[in-house]
Amino acid sequence: MGVATLGVGATGIFELAVLVEDGWQRQGVGTRLTASLLDSARARGVTGIHADVLGDDQFILRALRRIGPLTVSIESGRL
Ligand SMILES: CC(C)(COP(=O)(O)OP(=O)(O)OC[C@H]1O[C@@H](n2cnc3c(N)ncnc32)[C@H](O)[C@@H]1OP(=O)(O)O)[C@@H](O)C(=O)NCCC(=O)NCCS
Repeated sequence: MGVATLGVGATGIFELAVLVEDGWQRQGVGTRLTASLLDSARARGVTGIHADVLGDDQFILRALRRIGPLTVSIESGRL
């Protein structure tokens, strides 16, 4: 149905990526995958993660804000 990943690069920053199959979108899958992944990360001592969001996709910010505290910055049209 979907996949959520949290990868850590050379910078040490944890990067979140989420993809839900078209036919399963808007049924809570992305929210559940993300919340579950972040719960696991938190339990392992991760205190912050980063996600790139397209400027048009404000709904993703609303969904992320429901999962945990959020800080938003704008960079080249991306949030
Ligand atoms: C973005 C994505 C991961 C969200 O997953 P999802 O399972 O569809 O999301 P949810 O069902 O958990 O919905 C979360 C909220 O976003 C809203 N939402 C989801 N897709 C939306 C869309 N295309 N337009 C507007 N709102 C949308 C839902 O209505 C819900 O809000 P609500 O609770 O206020 O109704 C999924 O749509 C997707 O894979 N999109 C393509 C890839 C992408 O854009 N990834 C994000 C960047 S990494």
